[in-house]
Amino acid sequence: MTNIAEQAIQIPDLELGKDVLYLTKQDVLDLAITRSEILDITRETLVEHGNHRYEMPAKIGVHPYTEVFYHAMPAYVPGMNAVGCKWIECYPNNPQKFGIPQTTGLMVINDVESGVPVAIMDSTWVTAMRTPAVTVLAAAKLHPGAESFGMFGCGVQGKEHVRYAAEALPGLKTLYVYDNREAAADALIDELQDHVPFTLVKGESPEAVTKSAEVLSSATVILKEPLSVVKDEWVGAGQTILPCDLNTFWDPRIAQRADKYIVDSIEEHELFAGMGYFPDGLPAISAETGEVIADVKPGRESSDQLIVNSNIGMAVCDVTVGRAIFDRAVAKQAGTRLAL
Ligand SMILES: NC(=O)c1ccc[n+]([C@@H]2O[C@H](COP(=O)([O-])OP(=O)(O)OC[C@H]3O[C@@H](n4cnc5c(N)ncnc54)[C@H](O)[C@@H]3O)[C@@H](O)[C@H]2O)c1
Repeated sequence: MTNIAEQAIQIPDLELGKDVLYLTKQDVLDLAITRSEILDITRETLVEHGNHRYEMPAKIGVHPYTEVFYHAMPAYVPGMNAVGCKWIECYPNNPQKFGIPQTTGLMVINDVESGVPVAIMDSTWVTAMRTPAVTVLAAAKLHPGAESFGMFGCGVQGKEHVRYAAEALPGLKTLYVYDNREAAADALIDELQDHVPFTLVKGESPEAVTKSAEVLSSATVILKEPLSVVKDEWVGAGQTILPCDLNTFWDPRIAQRADKYIVDSIEEHELFAGMGYFPDGLPAISAETGEVIADVKPGRESSDQLIVNSNIGMAVCDVTVGRAIFDRAVAKQAGTRLAL
């Protein structure tokens, strides 16, 4: 990433403080930033977070309906010259009701030196990319050499988790996928089997997947009352569970009895608990994901430990990826210049 600590951003054809670069989802896609690049940026971001070199207040939000949230996600990562804010919404019923994604949003990237906004971009791609990047980096660290992975939820996140697993988990032989809409699991396998080096298997049931995979992740829905789809008795010693949907999919007893409960952000989890998302109480937290990635705190300490690592999503990851998108867009003269 370009080091611009000493000077304000220079943008050809764009006057700082007067113009802003607008990037549509297609503009962002056309930049062709690779998953490998996103993994590098995300790893560096997690190391910065783990060393507590960041500013990221817990998300503030508004909630027009039950189970719906809008979040403002500002962050500043000094070491990566990244500052900005993502404004997202999550409407779990959007796919059924309107045929549109659960999660959409916009991101603003600012110039650290002058503070002015320099880019506004669709944040769908950023969210779809940075979330599985965190999961697979954590999986590689907490469960090195895993040969089997189980993915619950075959939507936007599920598909990207499979692609990212192919990038970051070289030992994988089998990846089980499960979705309560069977067609979603079929579609994922049809679309991705030729692009990943491991075998994709449609799981027969949540129980079968849970009992077959060493590492498990879920990206389904986030609800206040846990669905408890995965039962405590199906989970065994030595497994690593990485939910992206808080504790919705899992029997709350699993995280409560885990040998380690690691979260991406303690503050964020406490905030969600305060909103009523952990009706059985927030489990005792051992470390933050970034601290484990940065080797500030230990991750797995024996092969029989049950580890739950909940990553609800951090603005630090959004703004560093957003900054990389902006830098690439400037280099490629992409996007539309708009007057502020
Ligand atoms: N942690 C993060 O940083 C982060 C980022 C983005 C999204 N999310 C969350 O991840 C989840 C998925 O997001 P998405 O964009 O992939 O949504 P999506 O709608 O594209 O996919 C969700 C999939 O989960 C399936 N599903 C729902 N309930 C299920 C159940 N009980 N059993 C099995 N499958 C079920 C749906 O059929 C769908 O295919 C949402 O809860 C979202 O809020 C988390």
